[in-house]
Amino acid sequence: MTKTAIRGAVLTFTADPSYSDPDTSYQYIEDALVVMADGLIESVGEYRPEAAQDLDVTHYPNALICPGFVDCHIHYPQTQMIGAYGKQLLEWLNTYTFAAEQDFADLGHAQRVAKVFLNELLRNGVTTAAVYCTVHPQSVEAFFERSEALSTRMIAGKVMMDCNAPPALLDTAETGYADSLRLLEKWHGRGRQLYAVTPRFAPTSTSGQLRAAARLWREHPGTYMQTHLSENQGELAWVQELFPESARYLQVYNDYGLLGERSIFGHCIHIGEDDFADFHRHGAAMAHCPTSNLFLGSGFFKLHEAKKPSRPVKVGLGADVGAGTSFSMLQTLGEAYKVAQTHQTGLTALQGFYLATKGGAEALSLDGKIGQIAPGFEADLAILDLKATPLIEFRMGFARTLPEKLFVLMTLGDDRAVRATYVAGKAVDAWMLRSR
Ligand code: GUN
Ligand code: ZN
Repeated sequence: MTKTAIRGAVLTFTADPSYSDPDTSYQYIEDALVVMADGLIESVGEYRPEAAQDLDVTHYPNALICPGFVDCHIHYPQTQMIGAYGKQLLEWLNTYTFAAEQDFADLGHAQRVAKVFLNELLRNGVTTAAVYCTVHPQSVEAFFERSEALSTRMIAGKVMMDCNAPPALLDTAETGYADSLRLLEKWHGRGRQLYAVTPRFAPTSTSGQLRAAARLWREHPGTYMQTHLSENQGELAWVQELFPESARYLQVYNDYGLLGERSIFGHCIHIGEDDFADFHRHGAAMAHCPTSNLFLGSGFFKLHEAKKPSRPVKVGLGADVGAGTSFSMLQTLGEAYKVAQTHQTGLTALQGFYLATKGGAEALSLDGKIGQIAPGFEADLAILDLKATPLIEFRMGFARTLPEKLFVLMTLGDDRAVRATYVAGKAVDAWMLRSR
């Protein structure tokens, strides 16, 4: 059995600091030894030379060892059009997104982009993500093949769309079901790969397809359902037109049976108390995508509402590339803080790092497996560099407490602040991540 051992400061959450005493919501060990074996964390505790005997220990001074980051909403085919200028959601989809996604009819293209995309995630310390592919089954094959080769724990699925998109991107209720079923049967639970039934959003699916998606999801317990909800005002008006029988947007998904445990909804900006209550009751999760929401001018997610103690809602973070402008969960947290500031509520560093790790794992119903550094958890880690840039190094010199240091990372940090990433107990080869 090959063991990996690392030494450094460890931070891991045991509870949500929004609902418990923030000071006891995490474990911080200034000088820790983490031992990994067979893809799992075997032990974590204070560093003692005796415990390190016979181990080849990699030491990370001036660093913070965190659980690998969890991204609850991202589109791998949009890597090639991240940062496309000047449109709001529906125009942006038609002008840039649907054009780019047509390239994924070509398996070779899909394989090339899957590699770049997964490298970017890992360069940013993101070890698990809920990922949209395109309507083409081969885009899903390319993604899972690459993820399997890297041993990353990923959730992904074939986008289902049978209306209101270019003909080259349309399936039908029947082919969408059949293709998704084939992919689900092949990939769900194979190694670390998990399948998400993925109707893109209500406007691009007919009633028949939404019904088929719900049937597929219900027929396969343990699989996921991911889609978009209430991102943009134009989208809301369109949904109202297309589904006049449903009183509100979320009701459309609920009416078709797409709300429940292991359902993940991106954005959730323009929603009300009834919606939050539905999420709570059904155990569904929201993916907060701040860089995307600011980039497309979509609006400001109400994290404080989601976190209301009387009816807590599961929330994780999403980079939402290509509308999102960064793969970095640190940059995503920095923008989440600014979005929260617009509501005068703020987001503490402890709340932020919880969201990016254990909170994300809970949103994906993977708590107990990922998102914590504790014996038995999968050994996915992000090693953050407290001296990543001259400015961060200088600023850290004036940060006295752990929360202050974390806040500097989420305000100034990006991919440069990730010194190393571990997947299933092994350091990801830095050279490989630079290769294209
Ligand atoms: N709504 C439906 N599809 C998409 C997408 O690809 N990106 C974003 N941001 N919103 C969507
Ligand atoms: Zn999205």
